[in-house]
This record gives sequence, structure tokens and C-alpha cells, in this order.
Amino acid sequence: MNTSEPLEDNWHDIISKAARGLQADVMTLAKNHWNEKNALELFEGICHPATLAAMAPALHLDGNALLAITVNDYHPGAITTPKNFKRFTTSYHGMQVNSYLFWSEENKNAVAFDTGADVIPLLKTLEQYQLKLDLILLTHGHSDHVCQLENLIAATGASAWIHQADLVSQAQPFTFPQTWKLDSTITIEARPTPGHSPGGTTYIIDSTSPTIAVVGDALFAGSVGGIPPSSYKLALKAIRENILSLPDATIMAPGHGPLTSVGDEKDHNPFFAK
Ligand SMILES: [Fe+2]
Repeated sequence: MNTSEPLEDNWHDIISKAARGLQADVMTLAKNHWNEKNALELFEGICHPATLAAMAPALHLDGNALLAITVNDYHPGAITTPKNFKRFTTSYHGMQVNSYLFWSEENKNAVAFDTGADVIPLLKTLEQYQLKLDLILLTHGHSDHVCQLENLIAATGASAWIHQADLVSQAQPFTFPQTWKLDSTITIEARPTPGHSPGGTTYIIDSTSPTIAVVGDALFAGSVGGIPPSSYKLALKAIRENILSLPDATIMAPGHGPLTSVGDEKDHNPFFAK
């Protein structure tokens, strides 16, 4: 299995996020399915696959999907994207963050999704393909995704948008439903995927084949972004209804970690696989 770009989360991250969301005590679960001495090892990062599989239902996770990630057997592999869609992975205090660029071949207008931690690669791509950055659509307001907004606006004059519940300086607020037109045929639709942040937004480009969903930190390959307990169940519901309802071939472009697809996540993400 291709693991050249690691998944954002490992088994420990996954069970920790599920336990936090459900306010479950992992130690109690581990003791119930193992023994106290060995349960302690779980907290030190020592994996015991059979125990994880046994604990999974109590954490509302799919045991087989969790095991596949635990033994390094799941990775979405290489995802082929349209020529007019680019991903940039930049480093924010040592953490890798994704931003994206998509453009119209008809009028060369482009849209950036988040800014990442360094906009130089994105600006070089605008120059390389002679594009005009028209829009900056922000998936949420966390600093690793928006910290270069001032620089990107200054360099391009683009208008920036974010859901009103996540408002940041220099971005205009929107509410749902909301769409933007890039040319005579391309429309970008905003869908609510709150939870990781109150205004968390997924942007759908359905003029491409396959459809592209830029999901921010709502969903990662094999995991989800961190979600507080108060919004955990509604966040998973929004992901099911507004992302996983898209066609299986839909390219899923997350804020961290590798690209994946809706079909892969429905089959292999422990939070959603059945
Ligand atoms: Fe975030």
C-alpha cells in the first residue's frame, strides 16, 4: 500500500477524537476489553489491535476500518486531479497544511481555497498559467488556513469570503445557501460542515469530472478534524449529509493530509464505514 504521504491521523488520534466527542473514557473501555496493565500501554502509544477492534463499537467506530489504519493497510493512494486544480502543502510551525487553487479555462479566473502558511507557490502558479485570482474561499477561520490572507489579498486584489460564524479580518461574511460563479458554466457551492469550527464550510465544484469537494478540516483521509463534544454528533451528521452524499468518485480535498475520495472514505474511514 502506498504510504508515501502519511495519513493525518493514526489510530491513537482516531480513538482520542472519538472518545472526546462522545465523552467516553478510553481507559475504562480498554480495561474492559483488555487488562489494567496493558490498558495503560495504550496511553503510551503501544497498540493492541484486538483490543482496539473490541473497543471500536463503544466509540461508534468501525472496527475493521480502524484495524486497517492501525496496521498501515489503508491509504487512498494517488488521486488524479483535473489539470486546473492544484494543491499546495505548506508548513505552519512544523505542521503541514493544504490550500488549493482552481481556475476556469474559459476566462482564466481562479479561486483559492484557504491560504496555507505560504502563498508564494500559489502566486507562482497564477503567473505560470496567467490566471487572475478572483476569489478566496475560506473553509474555516483557524490560523493555519487563513494566516496569509492579508498577503494574498494585497498581491491579487481578490475578494475573500468566510461563513459569518468564523469571521476573520479582511474576509466578507456569508450565510447558507451561497454560491459563486467563476465563468459562464462553473458554479461553486458552499455547504455547511460545522463542528471542527462553528462556520466550517465545504466548497463543491461540480462542473469538473469528477466533482471536487474542498472540505477543510471537516474530514481527513481516514479521520475527522478535532470536534468538541457539544457539536460532535451534529458534525458527523453534516459530513454524512453534505459530503458523503456526493458521488463516490468525488475528489475530497482536506485541509491536512492526502487527497481522498468520497467512496474511499465511506468504505475506510472508521467514523463512517459500516
Ligand atoms: Fe482547523
